[in-house]
Amino acid sequence: MGNKINKIAVFTSGGDAPGMNAGIRAVVRACVYHNIEVYGIYRGYQGMIENDIVKLNARSVSNIIQRGGTILKSARSDEFRTPEGRKKAHENLASRGIQGLIAIGGNGTFTGLHLFCQEFGMPSICLPGTIDNDLPGMDYTIGYDTATNTAVEAIDKIRDTALSHNRLFFIEVMGRHSGYIAINSGIAGGAVSIVIPEEDTPIDDLIATLDVGAENNKKSSLVVVAERGKSGSVWEIADQVKKKAPYYDIKVTILGHLQRGGSPTYFDRVLASRLGVAAVEGLLEGKRDVMIGVKDNQTVYVDFKIVDSQRHEIDEESLRLAKILSI
Ligand code: F6P
Repeated sequence: MGNKINKIAVFTSGGDAPGMNAGIRAVVRACVYHNIEVYGIYRGYQGMIENDIVKLNARSVSNIIQRGGTILKSARSDEFRTPEGRKKAHENLASRGIQGLIAIGGNGTFTGLHLFCQEFGMPSICLPGTIDNDLPGMDYTIGYDTATNTAVEAIDKIRDTALSHNRLFFIEVMGRHSGYIAINSGIAGGAVSIVIPEEDTPIDDLIATLDVGAENNKKSSLVVVAERGKSGSVWEIADQVKKKAPYYDIKVTILGHLQRGGSPTYFDRVLASRLGVAAVEGLLEGKRDVMIGVKDNQTVYVDFKIVDSQRHEIDEESLRLAKILSI
């Protein structure tokens, strides 16, 4: 392997996601394996600016593969958006001789790193760490599988009480502008309707679907609603349904940040492990300024630039499936 890089730093940034620790562990151990010095930067870009950087070794990442959150912590940094902030960050890295960066985060993290790469020529690779599964060019982001399983577990519990009381529940799940968690937790949780940001869901159509269920002897129903949809917040949707169909006993549950925590599934641990090792080896092989992901079970390098111009679309088949099963 043509190895010109001797020191790499890893950090996590943006919203945490289950599996980030498995990614940190993989980066650290792959560096040790390839005789590269490895550093951890605490609190993402803010820690880079404040020089909150420590040297890591294989044992620093023992006993973390099963833990949710991120041992390196995460933060959003307004200062990194300024040229002065980025200059300070670069000085701190340069003073330690750090020659490569591996970030674990979502699209905000990538945008910052892309700028940094261009300004200072710092070789960098990003691992997709976000529960939203909203990154183009790859099949899954680290944390999405765990978050969706957590949502399904919560939906199953709500189903028990909904059934006992013949109630209609609106359950909000996370995803920022992406409906991935909603569509798949909705299908797996047996939702009668799924409201996602990618699609318009007129209230009258939603009520018509609910009424068909009621006429077919459905005693309770669950509607999964992605946050930030075109049809408004979960409260607005529930209010509109209440006004037009007062015969339903309606409750709203927002799952919120519980979807971000917890022990990562085997899938997220393996994905993060695979991508962490591939990121280190990619840097050593000369890959620069790219995201790394898995598509059709192949490791792929994806240009940062497509994050701004492309979406990770929900496939038509999932939408069709959800509709068929809502009867
Ligand atoms: O990007 C992950 C995510 O959990 C989104 O699903 C959600 O919209 C957002 O972060 C919440 O951000 P915060 O933790 O800053 O409230």
